[in-house]
Amino acid sequence: MQNELRRYIDRLRTEGYSVRDDHGEDPDLIDIHGRAVDTWRENYPYDERMDRATYEVEKYLLQIELLKFQAWAKDNGSKHIIVFEGRDAAGKGGTIKRFQEYINVRHARVVALNKPSDREAGQWYMQRYIRHFPTAGELVMFDRSWYNRAGVERVMDFCTEDEYERFLDHVPPFERLVVDAGISLTKFWFSVTQNEQRTRFAIRQLDPVRRWKLSEMDLESLDKWDEYTSAKEEMFRRTDNDYTPWHTIKSNDKKRARINAMRFFLNQFDYADKDKQVVFAPDERIIQRGRDAVG
Ligand code: ADP
Ligand code: AMP
Ligand code: MLT
Repeated sequence: MQNELRRYIDRLRTEGYSVRDDHGEDPDLIDIHGRAVDTWRENYPYDERMDRATYEVEKYLLQIELLKFQAWAKDNGSKHIIVFEGRDAAGKGGTIKRFQEYINVRHARVVALNKPSDREAGQWYMQRYIRHFPTAGELVMFDRSWYNRAGVERVMDFCTEDEYERFLDHVPPFERLVVDAGISLTKFWFSVTQNEQRTRFAIRQLDPVRRWKLSEMDLESLDKWDEYTSAKEEMFRRTDNDYTPWHTIKSNDKKRARINAMRFFLNQFDYADKDKQVVFAPDERIIQRGRDAVG
């Protein structure tokens, strides 16, 4: 299939573009003269990406706070869910990896579900997600979530109009039950701009150590940019409320996105021995309430 992304990647190959790696943190796409494609600047509130040294220090300190948070959650038996959503290549996976890096895996899990099996497709839509909800003391991170129905399923017609409408109507009361049951629910939307998404796909294709296999969903996601935008806006309109708000994270700079996601998450809790020099309100230029991010 010759879509926009394939044509772009073919052109980069012809023109000799390659990938300059930053030890896995934030690789650049460079032309034959060594100049980096800097699509990350698109609409970005900072002129420079967070520098590596600052990032490493802040990440490490926040990871220590995550351990304190975990010890606290284990002691008081509280239950926690983080939903990581966003377009393909927005940086959900990379952020989850940093959340997990030093965490005690006995009390934390990542849930990344495949497309529903025949059996699951016959069940109540929420059923396969609820199976993975946390027990006392546990943190569960959803790499994509029940919100698939408001995004990929909507855009790719994997569900009917009726199922879609019912989903959006039922999510607020469903999530109300979840939080009333004593589960904290944090909903993140990782936000990338269109040209930056294209660059990230290209990096995965051109870098021999990544050799990412673009999925059908990935290939379609640039062509269907506007459809995904409308779906996201409708999702925020109908599922961002005061008990389960959405927060968008400007993720063209991956390092700032990860740091702010961790800080935002931790700042919601009053765990023991919290270091307020490390955990405080996140950067308002990077993290915004979902419904405010919609025009
Ligand atoms: P990912 O971006 O998570 O690596 P894909 O890009 O292949 O995976 O798919 C995006 C999302 O769409 C995944 O959550 C996947 O489960 C979902 N998906 C793919 N095909 C279907 C389908 N036929 N019905 C419902 N969901 C699907
Ligand atoms: P997203 O990943 O959907 O949050 O989108 C990231 C970027 O896409 C934004 O910073 C905007 O540049 C652009 N964008 C998204 N939605 C809209 C919209 N409704 N109108 C204009 N630009 C948009
Ligand atoms: C991301 O980087 O956002 C995801 O983890 C990978 C993807 O869906 O492309």
